[in-house]
Amino acid sequence: MAGTLNVLSICGSLRKGSFNAIVERSLPGLAPEGMSVTKAAPFRNFPLYDFDIQHEHGIPGDVVAMGKAILAADGVIIVSPEYNFTLPAGLKNAIDWLSRMKEPSPFNGKPFAIQSAATGSLGGSRMQYHLRQVLGGLGAFVLAGPEIFIGQAKTKVNEETRELTDETTREFIRKQLVAFAALIERVRPQR
Ligand SMILES: Cc1cc2nc3c(=O)[nH]c(=O)nc-3n(C[C@H](O)[C@H](O)[C@H](O)COP(=O)(O)O)c2cc1C
Repeated sequence: MAGTLNVLSICGSLRKGSFNAIVERSLPGLAPEGMSVTKAAPFRNFPLYDFDIQHEHGIPGDVVAMGKAILAADGVIIVSPEYNFTLPAGLKNAIDWLSRMKEPSPFNGKPFAIQSAATGSLGGSRMQYHLRQVLGGLGAFVLAGPEIFIGQAKTKVNEETRELTDETTREFIRKQLVAFAALIERVRPQR
């Protein structure tokens, strides 16, 4: 791997005990040599998207900060729950705001990987295909696989220490991160 790959992670859940946040926390320890994973600030304070806000006040500072963090990263991993068979409204709202940043766009040509954890057995798969569609529409290069669907998340983490404990899941994530490093190397401009 040439140089360090700086990857940004974004969590789609805001709740304190979030299983997805626990998965996100595991990423730096599961990343291959040469890849660093840094957590993005949450999108908690993004207002609901309203063109009038943008028109009157511009894009909010928190949105611009996340957009700049995405632009500065070599790749982005979104770790998110599924809400009602799709992506959480908060995450979609964040993407809608970020998509208003143009020239450069935080998404166009940027490698993305997706992971999801859910209490049910499908592990958030349905939201992943919707998120793939949204990111693809914005010109992102979304990693095809391996896909990470963490079903029955409660049984795969230690909620007290906030660690992802299931070794099979940890190994799947290691493999995805290696594949993500290869995608980043393939699509990023040569230095
Ligand atoms: C509004 C809402 C809708 C949900 N819809 C789904 C769903 O469609 N599919 C699913 O697998 N889990 C669904 N769940 C359950 C989530 O998997 C569970 O709450 C999970 O813990 C959320 O992720 P988090 O722990 O990272 O916050 C839903 C939860 C909420 C609060």
